[in-house]
Amino acid sequence: MTMTTQRPLEITSLTKVFPTPSGPHVAVKDFRALIQPGEFVSLLGHSGCGKSTVLAIVAGLSSASEGGVIVDGKEIEGPGLERALVFQTPSLLPWMTALDNVLLAVSQAHPALGHREQKAMASKYLDMVGLTEYANQRPTELSQGTQQRVAIARAFSLEPRFLLLDEPFGALDSITRRELQDLLLDLWEQDRKTVLMVTHDVDEALYLSDRIILMTDGPESRVGLELEITLPRPRSAEGSLDHPDYFRLRREVLQFLEHHSKQFSSGGHAGHSNKKSSAVVV
Ligand SMILES: Nc1ncnc2c1ncn2[C@@H]1O[C@H](COP(=O)(O)OP(=O)(O)O)[C@@H](O)[C@H]1O
Ligand SMILES: [Mg+2]
Repeated sequence: MTMTTQRPLEITSLTKVFPTPSGPHVAVKDFRALIQPGEFVSLLGHSGCGKSTVLAIVAGLSSASEGGVIVDGKEIEGPGLERALVFQTPSLLPWMTALDNVLLAVSQAHPALGHREQKAMASKYLDMVGLTEYANQRPTELSQGTQQRVAIARAFSLEPRFLLLDEPFGALDSITRRELQDLLLDLWEQDRKTVLMVTHDVDEALYLSDRIILMTDGPESRVGLELEITLPRPRSAEGSLDHPDYFRLRREVLQFLEHHSKQFSSGGHAGHSNKKSSAVVV
């Protein structure tokens, strides 16, 4: 891995206007962020604030009305294999086995490899998420959590530099969610991909991230607060939840969600309150 040559992912003054029957809807306005190589960043905010809108633009699935996304010093023009996506619903091809779903991604990302090598690579990634014994099963035969493991294997099998996750565990029960959070942490610790994860789960954002970007409520949603998550790594449920910083950071996030986002959305440019400690008001 040549981490040294990587540059930050930059989101520059991103604005997204949706045409609606009642006129243009400015969902996101002047959203800016710089995500460092190897950083795990969560985008957190109330439902409907514009998180998926930002992520879809970073993924290249949707275009910005103004501003853009810069990867390796170049503005993106669409999706790219260096940016892998995981959505809330696993979106596996139902007629294909778990292995073939991963294999399809491998064959797209590594077309120069022979079929046997591609298959070995798909198996390796399925094994990495603990699913070797499910390789020949189809999505309908698998639980939601297991399907999401396949989707994670598929994303990692692209060997992307950026992992873009949109509420990846949002549809799972709390025990499965915690298992998959730990799996993701484990995989991320191994090669520290740059991650941008959308979530509205405060504890999930705290547990996984190096930094949380909090969005104001829409319309005209933008970055309201950035928090460095100083909890030591590697993290574990016991160790991190017991850490004294955990409750301080959690309180800061909740305070923002309770007060600031509404204040921003109603007043447009309401004043920022100066936060102490690790909080950076932007
Ligand atoms: N295709 C679209 N057309 C019109 N409005 C949209 C469209 N997609 C999203 N929106 C609106 O943009 C805002 C942000 O949506 P979204 O990014 O999905 O929020 P989040 O992911 O934070 O829940 C919402 O008000 C939503 O209704
Ligand atoms: Mg969303």
